[in-house]
Amino acid sequence: MGNRTVKALVLAGGLGSRLRPLTQTGAKQLLPVGNKPIIHYVLENIQSLGVKEVGIIVGAETSVGIQKELGDGSRWGFDIRYIHQEAPLGLAHCVIAGEDFLQNDKFLMYLGDNMLKEGIQSFASEFVASGSTAQVHLVKSPNPREFGVAEFYEDGRLKRLVEKPVEPPSNWALTGIYFFDSTIIEAAHSIKPSWRNELEITDAIQWLLDKGFSVGYRKLRGWWKDTGRPEDLLEANVLVLQSLTGNVDPSASVDFESLIVGEVKIGPNVEIKSSVVRGPVIVGEGSIVEDSYIGPSTSLGARCLVRNSEISCSIIMDDAKILEVSVPIDGSLIGREAVIHSSNGKPKALKLIVGDVSKVGLV
Ligand code: TTP
Repeated sequence: MGNRTVKALVLAGGLGSRLRPLTQTGAKQLLPVGNKPIIHYVLENIQSLGVKEVGIIVGAETSVGIQKELGDGSRWGFDIRYIHQEAPLGLAHCVIAGEDFLQNDKFLMYLGDNMLKEGIQSFASEFVASGSTAQVHLVKSPNPREFGVAEFYEDGRLKRLVEKPVEPPSNWALTGIYFFDSTIIEAAHSIKPSWRNELEITDAIQWLLDKGFSVGYRKLRGWWKDTGRPEDLLEANVLVLQSLTGNVDPSASVDFESLIVGEVKIGPNVEIKSSVVRGPVIVGEGSIVEDSYIGPSTSLGARCLVRNSEISCSIIMDDAKILEVSVPIDGSLIGREAVIHSSNGKPKALKLIVGDVSKVGLV
């Protein structure tokens, strides 16, 4: 990045309540998209900046899983310091929690559940060269009401950030990638909690703008996804699989009755028997697919078993089983070790064991 003191602060606390029950057993940043935990995409993007010190904010719900998965960061060539946030008190609160780690250095703040197509290298060097206090990254959104939205002066400078506006001043939504210098720490200490009792990063940035500090922005060209809700996770999966390059691991077996079409990535020891797989599809290590159809935009995790069923546009997590399901499964998120099967026994009725906050759509 041309500046050795730049650090990264990755936010991986939070409750992930909108993704329950999938987040009941783990952090949402660890949910798989294209068979890879979301936070890996974040760390790979940070790795390309040559950052050496990464602070990761973890909360009570995410701490154990995140640390187990990411370790000391050596896999990515940087040191990870875990920073415990006592409660999810907001994105600006994360800046306060990270104060000792951040010291006076410039830093990149990256939400651990955000995904974007493009790299951030040029944004990083532009921020360092600009000498700005902060730099935010905007994406054109068809539904800006759901996000923080930017308002501009006529000359194009950033005027205001409005959180979830009823009447959006523009179509430019704020993404979860920010560059700051240490003035943001003062800003975070100066603002008051919002109506939802969180210290909002939009309020902290607004504080910078109001005090006359320079806040730059860049517009993203590729897609960006905040994976906070189930439908976002599925959309992110579609987007990631769009750039999948197919290949079949030499240890996998595909029998002569099967048909593989398009970009299909088949992992080690996978068995495909009497099935059609139409890409883009990724099949994780050790999974077995028999007498089935796996359609576009599906990520099938490791050690799954699919028999006599049809699945498309879905994320099926590790060790799940889908057996003899007579109706096509589409747009679905199936958690680890989940079992969906039909039985021929009587009574001919649905037999469900469904966890809290689950959603079951019947045809
Ligand atoms: P959010 O999606 O806004 O919050 P959340 O994870 O609590 O989700 P939900 O609303 O469904 O309960 O958070 C964005 C990212 O920032 C996410 O990776 C979690 C992280 N985060 C923290 O680390 N600390 C916090 O105090 C908050 C609010 C979020």
